Amino acid sequence: MKALVLAAGKGTRLKPLTNTVPKHILPVGDKPVLFHVLNYVKEAGIKDIGIVVSPESGPYIEEAIGTGSEWGGQITFIVQHEPLGLAHAVKVAKGFLGDSPFLMLLGDNLVQEGVKDFLGEFHTSSSDASILLKEVPDPRAFGVAELDPSGKVIHMVEKPQKPKSNLAIIGVYLFTAEIHKAIAQIKPSWRGELEITDAIQKLLEMGKVIRSHLLQGWWLDIGSNDGLIEANRVVLDAFLERDIKGKVDKQSSIVGRVEIGEATEIENSLVQGPVFIAANCRIKNSLVKPFTNIRAETVVEDSSLERSVILENCQILKIKHLANSVIGKNTKLTGQDKDPGEACTEQSRRIRLFIGDDCKVEL
Ligand code: TTP
Repeated sequence: MKALVLAAGKGTRLKPLTNTVPKHILPVGDKPVLFHVLNYVKEAGIKDIGIVVSPESGPYIEEAIGTGSEWGGQITFIVQHEPLGLAHAVKVAKGFLGDSPFLMLLGDNLVQEGVKDFLGEFHTSSSDASILLKEVPDPRAFGVAELDPSGKVIHMVEKPQKPKSNLAIIGVYLFTAEIHKAIAQIKPSWRGELEITDAIQKLLEMGKVIRSHLLQGWWLDIGSNDGLIEANRVVLDAFLERDIKGKVDKQSSIVGRVEIGEATEIENSLVQGPVFIAANCRIKNSLVKPFTNIRAETVVEDSSLERSVILENCQILKIKHLANSVIGKNTKLTGQDKDPGEACTEQSRRIRLFIGDDCKVEL
């Protein structure tokens, strides 16, 4: 069994951040989203891992992963020159995959329970594919599967106007080498992509058996600004533990599950967990409220933050009530000496920003 992790793509919905950094290395909780995905692969015991990257994302992802020894196996990078769809990514990876069965995961999606049980079921069934499904309130934005009473897939359709079930196909799949024959027979969709849903539908038409596994826990797609903020909320809430390595002065108070990295200094501030603050940061005269993720080397002074992701080496100075925001690295946000909205409610004064790397903003 091999694993194929897809980390190419355009990342349009996360622009401008993705102009300079692939979304796969954006942080969710204490590590990049891609590292969570690789941990699922490790837990499932798969040692031969291919990562599909784009010419742009490749160098960043290779640097972040380094030797990959953390995941205890062999990592091969495969370049997909254009993002022509998930089935196209499999086609490009054919040399790596050979005739092996494989687990395919999207490098920007998280699933609460990992993939071990999903894989276990596949090993004991004699099917040619298995897909992970999640019940969603409005399936029209997803690939949707129709099942028979035994859980066998009988039909699949991409973004149906009138869905026949509420079972969305999420980004985790298991395939035998039969999928390559199916991909060879499909044509690009109206959006110009070779769709994996079409390839699985083709497998059905070829008389192959496709199983499914219903995901009970959460599923998170970090592909949009809101997705990234929500993933941070859920993962910080689920996994963060209190761990204070930095220095906290007597005027500060750290409440609940807060992780503070080495050499970070907290002065005259209140931090209310769950909050992650990486190493070498300085938080002074500030209020850091729940579900905030502050990366290394960042300075926050005379500010209040909530439910936001602040990347490396930022300066947040005199900014009040920054909430539900994503701030790219090396960015400086400066507010005014006096809070302009003193007469307003906190709610109406909230600032929400999505800013890329290397910006300067005065508010
Ligand atoms: P998407 O999020 O569907 O596409 P995208 O990454 O291009 O983002 P956007 O829609 O905002 O432009 O892709 C899901 C995952 O699959 C993501 O990790 C990127 C990866 N992918 C590939 O590796 N190759 C591809 O051809 C495509 C379309 C996606």
